[in-house]
Amino acid sequence: MARIPFGPTYYEMLHPEAIDPEIREKALKAKETNELDPINLFNITWKNEKGNVRKIILPKALTGTEANIVVLLGTYFPSGSHKVGPAYSTLIEGCVDGDILPGEHTILGPSTGNFGIGVSYICNLMGYEAVVIMPDNMSKERYDRIQKYGAKLDLTPGTESDVILTLERTYELKKDPKNRPLAQFELMPNYRFHRFVTGNSAIEAVKGIGNGRIACFTSAPGSAGTIAAGDQIKSVFPEAKIVALEPYECSTLADGGRGQHRIEGIGDKMCTLIHNINTTDFVALIPDDDAVRGLKVIQEGAEVLEELGVTSEQAAALHNLFGVSGICNILGAIKMAHYLKLGPDDNVVTIATDGFDRYPSVLEDLERRYLETENFVLRRWARDIFLKANTENVYDFRSSKAKEQLYKQKEKDWLPFGYSQDYLDEMKTKEFWEKEFAKVEYYDREIAKLRNE
Ligand SMILES: Cc1ncc(COP(=O)(O)O)c(C=O)c1O
Repeated sequence: MARIPFGPTYYEMLHPEAIDPEIREKALKAKETNELDPINLFNITWKNEKGNVRKIILPKALTGTEANIVVLLGTYFPSGSHKVGPAYSTLIEGCVDGDILPGEHTILGPSTGNFGIGVSYICNLMGYEAVVIMPDNMSKERYDRIQKYGAKLDLTPGTESDVILTLERTYELKKDPKNRPLAQFELMPNYRFHRFVTGNSAIEAVKGIGNGRIACFTSAPGSAGTIAAGDQIKSVFPEAKIVALEPYECSTLADGGRGQHRIEGIGDKMCTLIHNINTTDFVALIPDDDAVRGLKVIQEGAEVLEELGVTSEQAAALHNLFGVSGICNILGAIKMAHYLKLGPDDNVVTIATDGFDRYPSVLEDLERRYLETENFVLRRWARDIFLKANTENVYDFRSSKAKEQLYKQKEKDWLPFGYSQDYLDEMKTKEFWEKEFAKVEYYDREIAKLRNE
Protein backbone atom coordinates (compact mmCIF):
# COMPACT_ATOMS: atom_id res chain seq x y z
CA MET A 1 0.00 0.00 0.00
CA ALA A 2 1.27 3.48 -0.85
CA ARG A 3 2.24 5.64 2.12
CA ILE A 4 -0.32 8.25 3.14
CA PRO A 5 1.24 11.72 2.86
CA PHE A 6 0.32 13.36 6.14
CA GLY A 7 0.12 17.13 6.34
CA PRO A 8 -0.46 19.63 9.16
CA THR A 9 -2.46 19.20 12.34
CA TYR A 10 -5.35 21.57 13.14
CA TYR A 11 -3.01 23.29 15.59
CA GLU A 12 -0.39 23.85 12.90
CA MET A 13 -3.00 25.27 10.50
CA LEU A 14 -3.87 27.82 13.18
CA HIS A 15 -0.26 28.34 14.26
CA PRO A 16 1.98 27.72 11.23
CA GLU A 17 4.91 29.02 13.29
CA ALA A 18 4.65 25.71 15.21
CA ILE A 19 5.54 23.74 12.05
CA ASP A 20 9.11 22.40 11.89
CA PRO A 21 11.02 25.48 10.60
CA GLU A 22 12.65 23.54 7.77
CA ILE A 23 9.27 22.30 6.49
CA ARG A 24 7.71 25.74 6.91
CA GLU A 25 10.48 27.35 4.88
CA LYS A 26 10.21 24.75 2.12
CA ALA A 27 6.42 25.16 2.06
CA LEU A 28 6.63 28.96 1.77
CA LYS A 29 9.09 28.60 -1.10
CA ALA A 30 6.91 26.00 -2.87
CA LYS A 31 3.97 28.40 -2.67
CA GLU A 32 5.82 30.74 -5.00
CA THR A 33 7.43 28.13 -7.26
CA ASN A 34 5.32 24.96 -7.53
CA GLU A 35 1.76 24.90 -6.26
CA LEU A 36 1.54 21.14 -6.89
CA ASP A 37 4.38 20.24 -4.52
CA PRO A 38 2.73 18.25 -1.66
CA ILE A 39 4.65 20.36 0.86
CA ASN A 40 2.01 23.03 0.11
CA LEU A 41 -0.29 21.15 2.50
CA PHE A 42 1.62 23.12 5.15
CA ASN A 43 0.40 26.40 3.62
CA ILE A 44 -3.23 25.70 4.58
CA THR A 45 -3.63 28.59 7.02
CA TRP A 46 -5.13 32.08 7.30
CA LYS A 47 -1.69 33.43 8.26
CA ASN A 48 1.00 35.02 6.13
CA GLU A 49 4.71 34.27 6.34
CA LYS A 50 5.00 36.64 9.32
CA GLY A 51 2.32 34.77 11.21
CA ASN A 52 -0.37 37.48 10.81
CA VAL A 53 -3.95 36.71 9.75
CA ARG A 54 -4.54 37.88 6.18
CA LYS A 55 -7.28 40.46 6.43
CA ILE A 56 -8.43 43.87 5.26
CA ILE A 57 -10.27 46.53 7.25
CA LEU A 58 -12.73 48.15 4.86
CA PRO A 59 -12.55 51.92 4.35
CA LYS A 60 -15.39 53.65 6.20
CA ALA A 61 -15.95 55.88 3.17
CA LEU A 62 -17.11 52.71 1.42
CA THR A 63 -19.07 51.02 4.21
CA GLY A 64 -20.85 54.10 5.55
CA THR A 65 -20.71 52.73 9.10
CA GLU A 66 -18.53 53.74 12.03
CA ALA A 67 -18.04 50.10 13.02
CA ASN A 68 -14.88 48.35 11.81
CA ILE A 69 -15.61 45.79 9.11
CA VAL A 70 -12.77 43.25 9.13
CA VAL A 71 -12.64 40.77 6.25
CA LEU A 72 -10.51 37.60 6.42
CA LEU A 73 -9.06 36.81 3.00
CA GLY A 74 -9.42 33.29 1.64
CA THR A 75 -7.84 33.96 -1.75
CA TYR A 76 -4.31 33.36 -0.43
CA PHE A 77 -4.95 29.73 0.52
CA PRO A 78 -3.41 27.13 -1.81
CA SER A 79 -5.84 26.59 -4.73
CA GLY A 80 -7.25 30.10 -4.17
CA SER A 81 -9.94 29.58 -1.53
CA HIS A 82 -10.21 28.52 2.11
CA LYS A 83 -12.39 25.57 1.05
CA VAL A 84 -9.12 23.67 0.66
CA GLY A 85 -9.06 23.57 4.50
CA PRO A 86 -12.25 21.52 4.92
CA ALA A 87 -11.24 19.35 1.94
CA TYR A 88 -7.89 18.53 3.57
CA SER A 89 -9.39 18.08 7.05
CA THR A 90 -12.04 15.66 5.79
CA LEU A 91 -9.51 13.64 3.82
CA ILE A 92 -6.91 13.48 6.61
CA GLU A 93 -9.50 12.46 9.22
CA GLY A 94 -10.63 9.71 6.85
CA CYS A 95 -6.99 8.56 6.56
CA VAL A 96 -6.57 8.59 10.36
CA ASP A 97 -9.79 6.61 10.77
CA GLY A 98 -8.51 4.07 8.23
CA ASP A 99 -11.55 4.67 6.01
CA ILE A 100 -9.62 6.19 3.12
CA LEU A 101 -6.63 4.38 1.65
CA PRO A 102 -4.39 5.55 -1.18
CA GLY A 103 -4.40 3.36 -4.26
CA GLU A 104 -7.66 1.81 -3.11
CA HIS A 105 -10.22 4.56 -2.88
CA THR A 106 -11.52 7.24 -5.24
CA ILE A 107 -12.57 10.47 -3.56
CA LEU A 108 -15.93 12.06 -4.37
CA GLY A 109 -16.37 15.81 -3.87
CA PRO A 110 -19.98 17.03 -4.03
CA SER A 111 -19.70 20.77 -4.51
CA THR A 112 -20.75 23.90 -6.33
CA GLY A 113 -17.15 24.70 -7.14
CA ASN A 114 -14.68 25.83 -4.52
CA PHE A 115 -14.87 22.71 -2.40
CA GLY A 116 -14.50 20.76 -5.65
CA ILE A 117 -11.42 22.79 -6.55
CA GLY A 118 -10.07 22.13 -3.03
CA VAL A 119 -10.79 18.39 -3.31
CA SER A 120 -9.18 18.17 -6.75
CA TYR A 121 -6.10 20.05 -5.47
CA ILE A 122 -5.74 18.06 -2.23
CA CYS A 123 -6.19 14.74 -4.02
CA ASN A 124 -3.49 15.76 -6.48
CA LEU A 125 -1.11 16.55 -3.62
CA MET A 126 -1.98 13.42 -1.62
CA GLY A 127 -2.12 11.01 -4.56
CA TYR A 128 -5.80 10.13 -4.82
CA GLU A 129 -8.11 9.83 -7.84
CA ALA A 130 -10.97 12.30 -7.46
CA VAL A 131 -14.39 12.94 -8.99
CA VAL A 132 -16.07 16.29 -8.39
CA ILE A 133 -19.85 16.22 -8.60
CA MET A 134 -21.28 19.66 -9.31
CA PRO A 135 -24.03 21.53 -11.21
CA ASP A 136 -23.36 22.21 -14.90
CA ASN A 137 -24.09 25.95 -14.81
CA MET A 138 -21.45 27.41 -12.51
CA SER A 139 -18.73 29.90 -13.55
CA LYS A 140 -16.43 28.57 -16.27
CA GLU A 141 -13.30 29.31 -14.21
CA ARG A 142 -14.35 26.67 -11.67
CA TYR A 143 -14.43 23.76 -14.16
CA ASP A 144 -11.08 24.87 -15.62
CA ARG A 145 -9.38 24.77 -12.21
CA ILE A 146 -10.86 21.42 -11.19
CA GLN A 147 -9.62 19.86 -14.42
CA LYS A 148 -6.25 21.57 -14.14
CA TYR A 149 -5.71 19.86 -10.78
CA GLY A 150 -6.67 16.49 -12.26
CA ALA A 151 -10.11 15.50 -10.92
CA LYS A 152 -12.82 14.20 -13.22
CA LEU A 153 -16.12 16.08 -13.43
CA ASP A 154 -19.54 14.49 -12.96
CA LEU A 155 -22.10 17.19 -13.74
CA THR A 156 -25.70 17.40 -12.56
CA PRO A 157 -28.20 19.84 -14.12
CA GLY A 158 -28.67 23.36 -12.76
CA THR A 159 -26.92 26.01 -10.70
CA GLU A 160 -26.07 26.81 -7.09
CA SER A 161 -29.55 26.16 -5.77
CA ASP A 162 -29.66 22.70 -7.39
CA VAL A 163 -26.96 21.32 -5.12
CA ILE A 164 -29.35 18.71 -3.70
CA LEU A 165 -29.04 16.91 -7.05
CA THR A 166 -25.29 16.65 -6.48
CA LEU A 167 -25.98 15.09 -3.08
CA GLU A 168 -28.37 12.56 -4.57
CA ARG A 169 -25.79 11.69 -7.23
CA THR A 170 -23.11 11.30 -4.53
CA TYR A 171 -25.33 8.88 -2.59
CA GLU A 172 -25.74 6.85 -5.80
CA LEU A 173 -21.98 6.76 -6.50
CA LYS A 174 -21.26 5.93 -2.86
CA LYS A 175 -22.83 2.49 -3.41
CA ASP A 176 -19.61 1.50 -5.21
CA PRO A 177 -17.31 0.43 -2.32
CA LYS A 178 -14.25 1.99 -3.94
CA ASN A 179 -15.76 5.47 -3.71
CA ARG A 180 -15.35 7.62 -0.61
CA PRO A 181 -17.26 10.92 -0.44
CA LEU A 182 -15.84 13.96 1.34
CA ALA A 183 -19.33 15.00 2.35
CA GLN A 184 -18.87 18.66 3.23
CA PHE A 185 -22.55 19.18 4.11
CA GLU A 186 -22.58 16.29 6.57
CA LEU A 187 -19.15 15.61 8.02
CA MET A 188 -17.72 17.23 11.13
CA PRO A 189 -14.14 17.90 9.94
CA ASN A 190 -15.64 20.89 8.09
CA TYR A 191 -17.04 22.09 11.43
CA ARG A 192 -13.78 21.39 13.26
CA PHE A 193 -11.61 23.19 10.68
CA HIS A 194 -13.69 26.35 10.74
CA ARG A 195 -14.39 26.44 14.45
CA PHE A 196 -10.78 25.81 15.42
CA VAL A 197 -8.78 27.38 12.58
CA THR A 198 -11.07 30.08 11.17
CA GLY A 199 -12.75 30.99 14.48
CA ASN A 200 -9.48 31.40 16.38
CA SER A 201 -7.92 33.27 13.43
CA ALA A 202 -10.88 35.71 13.48
CA ILE A 203 -10.35 36.25 17.21
CA GLU A 204 -6.66 37.01 16.59
CA ALA A 205 -7.49 39.25 13.63
CA VAL A 206 -9.28 41.89 15.71
CA LYS A 207 -6.47 42.37 18.25
CA GLY A 208 -5.67 46.07 18.33
CA ILE A 209 -8.77 47.04 16.31
CA GLY A 210 -11.61 48.92 18.08
CA ASN A 211 -12.22 47.31 21.46
CA GLY A 212 -10.41 44.15 20.33
CA ARG A 213 -13.61 42.09 20.57
CA ILE A 214 -16.06 40.80 17.95
CA ALA A 215 -19.58 42.23 18.10
CA CYS A 216 -20.88 40.39 15.07
CA PHE A 217 -19.82 37.69 12.60
CA THR A 218 -21.56 37.34 9.25
CA SER A 219 -21.26 34.36 6.93
CA ALA A 220 -23.43 33.16 4.07
CA PRO A 221 -23.67 29.38 4.43
CA GLY A 222 -23.07 26.99 1.59
CA SER A 223 -22.12 23.92 3.58
CA ALA A 224 -22.29 26.07 6.77
CA GLY A 225 -18.71 25.15 7.57
CA THR A 226 -17.46 28.75 7.75
CA ILE A 227 -20.25 29.86 10.08
CA ALA A 228 -18.86 27.37 12.65
CA ALA A 229 -16.18 30.02 13.28
CA GLY A 230 -19.06 31.80 15.05
CA ASP A 231 -19.18 29.05 17.70
CA GLN A 232 -15.59 29.77 18.68
CA ILE A 233 -16.11 33.54 18.50
CA LYS A 234 -19.16 33.26 20.78
CA SER A 235 -17.26 31.11 23.27
CA VAL A 236 -14.67 33.92 23.66
CA PHE A 237 -16.99 36.93 23.12
CA PRO A 238 -20.42 35.77 24.40
CA GLU A 239 -22.03 39.04 23.28
CA ALA A 240 -21.14 38.34 19.61
CA LYS A 241 -24.10 37.99 17.26
CA ILE A 242 -23.77 35.27 14.63
CA VAL A 243 -25.59 36.02 11.39
CA ALA A 244 -26.30 33.64 8.51
CA LEU A 245 -26.75 35.45 5.20
CA GLU A 246 -28.85 34.21 2.32
CA PRO A 247 -29.66 35.47 -1.14
CA TYR A 248 -32.97 37.37 -1.05
CA GLU A 249 -33.99 35.13 -3.96
CA CYS A 250 -33.37 31.88 -2.03
CA SER A 251 -34.34 32.52 1.60
CA THR A 252 -34.55 28.90 2.76
CA LEU A 253 -33.45 29.48 6.37
CA ALA A 254 -35.35 32.75 6.77
CA ASP A 255 -38.72 31.56 5.51
CA GLY A 256 -38.39 28.38 3.45
CA GLY A 257 -37.90 30.33 0.17
CA ARG A 258 -36.29 28.35 -2.64
CA GLY A 259 -35.24 30.14 -5.83
CA GLN A 260 -32.45 30.45 -8.37
CA HIS A 261 -29.81 33.09 -7.64
CA ARG A 262 -26.43 34.40 -8.75
CA ILE A 263 -24.21 34.05 -5.64
CA GLU A 264 -22.07 30.98 -6.27
CA GLY A 265 -21.13 28.94 -3.21
CA ILE A 266 -24.06 29.87 -0.93
CA GLY A 267 -27.84 29.57 -0.70
CA ASP A 268 -28.19 25.88 -1.47
CA LYS A 269 -31.93 25.52 -0.63
CA MET A 270 -31.29 23.64 2.61
CA CYS A 271 -30.22 23.74 6.23
CA THR A 272 -27.08 21.62 6.11
CA LEU A 273 -26.52 18.84 8.62
CA ILE A 274 -23.40 20.47 10.10
CA HIS A 275 -25.07 23.86 10.68
CA ASN A 276 -25.19 24.49 14.45
CA ILE A 277 -28.53 26.25 14.60
CA ASN A 278 -28.22 26.91 18.36
CA THR A 279 -25.67 29.66 17.84
CA THR A 280 -27.27 31.37 14.80
CA ASP A 281 -28.82 34.59 16.11
CA PHE A 282 -30.07 36.22 12.91
CA VAL A 283 -30.65 35.43 9.26
CA ALA A 284 -30.34 38.38 6.87
CA LEU A 285 -31.10 38.51 3.16
CA ILE A 286 -28.96 40.14 0.47
CA PRO A 287 -30.29 40.66 -3.09
CA ASP A 288 -28.07 38.58 -5.37
CA ASP A 289 -27.44 41.24 -7.99
CA ASP A 290 -26.30 43.70 -5.29
CA ALA A 291 -23.42 41.30 -4.66
CA VAL A 292 -22.58 41.05 -8.38
CA ARG A 293 -22.90 44.80 -9.02
CA GLY A 294 -20.97 45.52 -5.81
CA LEU A 295 -18.15 43.35 -7.15
CA LYS A 296 -18.15 45.35 -10.37
CA VAL A 297 -17.81 48.58 -8.36
CA ILE A 298 -14.89 47.21 -6.34
CA GLN A 299 -13.11 45.72 -9.36
CA GLU A 300 -13.62 48.48 -11.91
CA GLY A 301 -14.86 51.55 -10.04
CA ALA A 302 -11.63 52.92 -8.50
CA GLU A 303 -12.47 56.45 -9.72
CA VAL A 304 -15.96 56.26 -8.30
CA LEU A 305 -14.65 54.94 -4.98
CA GLU A 306 -12.23 57.87 -4.78
CA GLU A 307 -15.11 60.29 -5.29
CA LEU A 308 -16.70 58.74 -2.20
CA GLY A 309 -13.56 59.48 -0.17
CA VAL A 310 -11.78 56.12 -0.47
CA THR A 311 -8.09 56.89 -1.09
CA SER A 312 -6.48 55.59 -4.27
CA GLU A 313 -4.26 53.27 -2.16
CA GLN A 314 -7.31 51.88 -0.38
CA ALA A 315 -9.16 51.35 -3.68
CA ALA A 316 -6.13 49.59 -5.16
CA ALA A 317 -5.80 47.38 -2.05
CA LEU A 318 -9.38 46.10 -2.52
CA HIS A 319 -8.73 44.98 -6.08
CA ASN A 320 -8.91 41.19 -6.74
CA LEU A 321 -9.56 40.26 -3.09
CA PHE A 322 -13.23 39.29 -3.35
CA GLY A 323 -15.63 37.05 -5.20
CA VAL A 324 -19.41 37.48 -5.34
CA SER A 325 -20.07 35.73 -2.01
CA GLY A 326 -17.37 37.87 -0.37
CA ILE A 327 -19.30 40.98 -1.39
CA CYS A 328 -22.48 39.37 -0.07
CA ASN A 329 -20.75 38.78 3.27
CA ILE A 330 -19.52 42.38 3.31
CA LEU A 331 -22.99 43.74 2.54
CA GLY A 332 -24.35 41.57 5.35
CA ALA A 333 -21.69 42.94 7.70
CA ILE A 334 -22.64 46.54 6.83
CA LYS A 335 -26.36 45.76 7.19
CA MET A 336 -25.83 44.22 10.63
CA ALA A 337 -23.60 47.08 11.79
CA HIS A 338 -26.58 49.39 11.11
CA TYR A 339 -29.14 46.96 12.54
CA LEU A 340 -27.18 46.45 15.77
CA LYS A 341 -26.33 50.19 15.92
CA LEU A 342 -22.61 49.47 16.25
CA GLY A 343 -20.06 52.24 16.75
CA PRO A 344 -16.33 52.90 16.24
CA ASP A 345 -15.28 50.55 19.08
CA ASP A 346 -17.14 47.62 17.56
CA ASN A 347 -15.80 45.06 15.12
CA VAL A 348 -17.80 43.06 12.61
CA VAL A 349 -15.86 40.15 11.13
CA THR A 350 -16.67 38.45 7.89
CA ILE A 351 -15.01 36.21 5.31
CA ALA A 352 -14.03 36.41 1.67
CA THR A 353 -13.97 32.74 0.72
CA ASP A 354 -12.12 33.34 -2.54
CA GLY A 355 -10.85 36.15 -4.78
CA PHE A 356 -11.76 37.65 -8.14
CA ASP A 357 -9.75 35.12 -10.20
CA ARG A 358 -12.76 32.84 -10.61
CA TYR A 359 -15.30 35.53 -11.54
CA PRO A 360 -14.28 37.45 -14.70
CA SER A 361 -16.98 35.52 -16.59
CA VAL A 362 -19.57 36.68 -14.04
CA LEU A 363 -18.73 40.34 -14.75
CA GLU A 364 -18.78 39.65 -18.50
CA ASP A 365 -22.28 38.30 -18.02
CA LEU A 366 -23.22 41.44 -16.04
CA GLU A 367 -22.00 43.57 -19.00
CA ARG A 368 -24.39 41.66 -21.25
CA ARG A 369 -27.32 42.07 -18.87
CA TYR A 370 -27.04 45.81 -18.28
CA LEU A 371 -27.28 48.35 -21.08
CA GLU A 372 -24.70 50.65 -19.51
CA THR A 373 -21.98 50.24 -16.91
CA GLU A 374 -20.29 53.61 -17.30
CA ASN A 375 -19.01 55.52 -14.28
CA PHE A 376 -22.32 57.34 -13.79
CA VAL A 377 -23.97 53.93 -13.31
CA LEU A 378 -21.22 52.61 -11.01
CA ARG A 379 -21.54 55.82 -8.97
CA ARG A 380 -25.23 55.08 -8.40
CA TRP A 381 -24.53 51.43 -7.58
CA ALA A 382 -21.79 52.32 -5.07
CA ARG A 383 -24.14 54.67 -3.22
CA ASP A 384 -27.21 52.44 -3.34
CA ILE A 385 -25.52 49.13 -2.57
CA PHE A 386 -22.86 50.09 -0.01
CA LEU A 387 -23.69 53.49 1.48
CA LYS A 388 -27.48 53.17 1.57
CA ALA A 389 -27.42 49.65 2.99
CA ASN A 390 -30.66 49.24 4.96
CA THR A 391 -31.83 47.13 7.88
CA GLU A 392 -34.64 45.38 6.01
CA ASN A 393 -34.94 41.62 5.76
CA VAL A 394 -33.22 40.77 9.03
CA TYR A 395 -34.89 37.83 10.81
CA ASP A 396 -34.35 37.29 14.54
CA PHE A 397 -33.74 33.60 15.30
CA ARG A 398 -32.82 33.90 18.97
CA SER A 399 -36.09 32.55 20.42
CA SER A 400 -36.65 28.83 20.82
CA LYS A 401 -39.78 29.11 18.66
CA ALA A 402 -37.72 30.55 15.80
CA LYS A 403 -35.07 27.86 16.25
CA GLU A 404 -37.79 25.24 15.93
CA GLN A 405 -38.39 26.45 12.36
CA LEU A 406 -34.72 25.75 11.53
CA TYR A 407 -34.79 22.34 13.22
CA LYS A 408 -37.83 21.47 11.08
CA GLN A 409 -35.97 22.58 7.95
CA LYS A 410 -33.01 20.38 8.88
CA GLU A 411 -35.30 17.39 9.45
CA LYS A 412 -37.00 17.96 6.11
CA ASP A 413 -33.60 18.06 4.38
CA TRP A 414 -31.81 15.18 6.14
CA LEU A 415 -34.30 12.52 7.25
CA PRO A 416 -34.66 11.53 3.56
CA PHE A 417 -30.89 10.84 3.43
CA GLY A 418 -31.19 8.26 6.21
CA TYR A 419 -30.21 10.30 9.30
CA SER A 420 -32.29 9.36 12.35
CA GLN A 421 -34.53 11.67 14.33
CA ASP A 422 -32.47 10.73 17.41
CA TYR A 423 -29.28 12.00 15.78
CA LEU A 424 -30.96 15.24 14.70
CA ASP A 425 -32.33 15.67 18.24
CA GLU A 426 -28.86 15.17 19.67
CA MET A 427 -27.68 18.01 17.45
CA LYS A 428 -30.04 20.34 19.32
CA THR A 429 -27.79 20.11 22.40
CA LYS A 430 -24.69 22.14 23.14
CA GLU A 431 -22.94 18.94 24.32
CA PHE A 432 -23.12 17.45 20.83
CA TRP A 433 -21.12 20.32 19.32
CA GLU A 434 -18.63 20.53 22.20
CA LYS A 435 -17.95 16.81 21.93
CA GLU A 436 -17.36 17.09 18.19
CA PHE A 437 -15.09 20.10 18.68
CA ALA A 438 -13.05 18.33 21.35
CA LYS A 439 -12.03 15.70 18.77
CA VAL A 440 -9.55 18.24 17.33
CA GLU A 441 -7.08 17.13 19.99
CA TYR A 442 -7.51 13.44 19.18
CA TYR A 443 -7.01 13.96 15.44
CA ASP A 444 -4.00 16.20 16.02
CA ARG A 445 -2.34 13.52 18.12
CA GLU A 446 -3.05 10.85 15.50
CA ILE A 447 -1.87 13.00 12.57
CA ALA A 448 1.39 13.79 14.37
CA LYS A 449 1.87 10.11 15.27
CA LEU A 450 1.24 8.79 11.75
CA ARG A 451 3.40 11.51 10.22
CA ASN A 452 6.38 10.33 12.24
CA GLU A 453 5.97 6.65 11.42
C1 LIG B 1 -17.48 31.23 -3.05
C2 LIG B 1 -18.03 30.62 -1.82
N1 LIG B 1 -18.53 31.41 -0.88
C3 LIG B 1 -19.07 30.90 0.24
C4 LIG B 1 -19.13 29.55 0.47
C5 LIG B 1 -19.79 29.04 1.71
O1 LIG B 1 -18.90 28.52 2.63
P1 LIG B 1 -19.33 27.31 3.56
O2 LIG B 1 -19.49 26.11 2.66
O3 LIG B 1 -18.20 27.14 4.50
O4 LIG B 1 -20.60 27.67 4.19
C6 LIG B 1 -18.59 28.68 -0.49
C7 LIG B 1 -18.65 27.24 -0.31
O5 LIG B 1 -18.28 26.47 -1.16
C8 LIG B 1 -18.03 29.23 -1.67
O6 LIG B 1 -17.52 28.45 -2.61
